[in-house]
Amino acid sequence: MLQILIGKDLHIAANLLQKGFVVGIPTETVYGLAANALNEDAVVSVFEIKKRPFFDPLIIHVDSWTSALLYVKNVPEVLEKLAFECMPGPLTLLLEKKEIIPDLVTSGSDKVAIRLPSHSMTKELLGLLDFPLAAPSANPFGYISPTTAKHVEDQLGKEVSYILDGGPSQVGLESTIVGMENGQLTIYRKGGLEAETIEKIAGQKVFVKEHSSSQPLAPGMLTSHYAPKTTFEFLEHADDWKQINISDHTACLRFTDYYPGINQKNQKILSASGDLHEAARHVFSYMRELDDSDAEIIYAEKLPDTGLGLAINDRLKRAAAKNEK
Ligand code: TXA
Ligand code: MG
Repeated sequence: MLQILIGKDLHIAANLLQKGFVVGIPTETVYGLAANALNEDAVVSVFEIKKRPFFDPLIIHVDSWTSALLYVKNVPEVLEKLAFECMPGPLTLLLEKKEIIPDLVTSGSDKVAIRLPSHSMTKELLGLLDFPLAAPSANPFGYISPTTAKHVEDQLGKEVSYILDGGPSQVGLESTIVGMENGQLTIYRKGGLEAETIEKIAGQKVFVKEHSSSQPLAPGMLTSHYAPKTTFEFLEHADDWKQINISDHTACLRFTDYYPGINQKNQKILSASGDLHEAARHVFSYMRELDDSDAEIIYAEKLPDTGLGLAINDRLKRAAAKNEK
């Protein structure tokens, strides 16, 4: 059994990755569970540690567009434009893969999801490696994504050989996944890069593909995801709050203000000033804190359906979905 370690040593991380081990890595979106994407045994370990089904493919991480081109081909012009403008950053592009990327990484698809993280530590780590890193978010499958090294340690500490600590993730939501489908610019997962920004740069409308459980290869496809263990309800309308039963074990996640009637110690405010970026940065860690408290039920308020609010609402809705019949 390997000793569990959290630290900032890039050489330890690089060494372990070169040997085929799995390492927790910081990114500006969320923490990832990384392995050499070209080493199938290492990639299998990622699926196993995360308890992720093999039909759900992994994103590969590289440190430059030049490296990206070693692994993808036939990049549509509009996606290249997005790459130039928004990478590195919270954007993932779905592109035709080259042979070198194992089918295991893409779950048999001929497209691979590729991303350039902007986190300086991870960029530097990638620079020490001569392979891309396959990395899903470093949470057990279906649970809340991690935004600190401690979150990773709490849940997967026994199974990873090292966790690189790069501080709290500055975006806090996973990357936005974008590709082309039937000639149309398509968002497959709402995330840390706003749809409005993508449309502005692309100079065209973007189609947001809705979740469908009949399409197992569509990203972020499961209705129930990001779910806490505690019963979690997403209140979509202001009036819904009037229907709730409040006890000492009722908790809530609010956007800007406390809900009268619920003990304030059981409440988390995502951003008192109504800043959606701040809310995004806090949402997963606050969900975890409430989940780890003695709350028996957590109510979450719907945020405005604009900018990052769309992606945050998407996560809250999926977190609540497991309670639905
Ligand atoms: O911000 C992020 O994207 C984080 C950090 C660690 O980079 N990663 C992340 O990975 O969120 P993960 O595995 O938790 O979510 C990736 C999503 C999944 O829903 C998966 O189905 C989809 O991307 N995906 C990956 N490769 C794909 C492919 N080749 N085709 C379709 N969907 C793909
Ligand atoms: Mg994930």
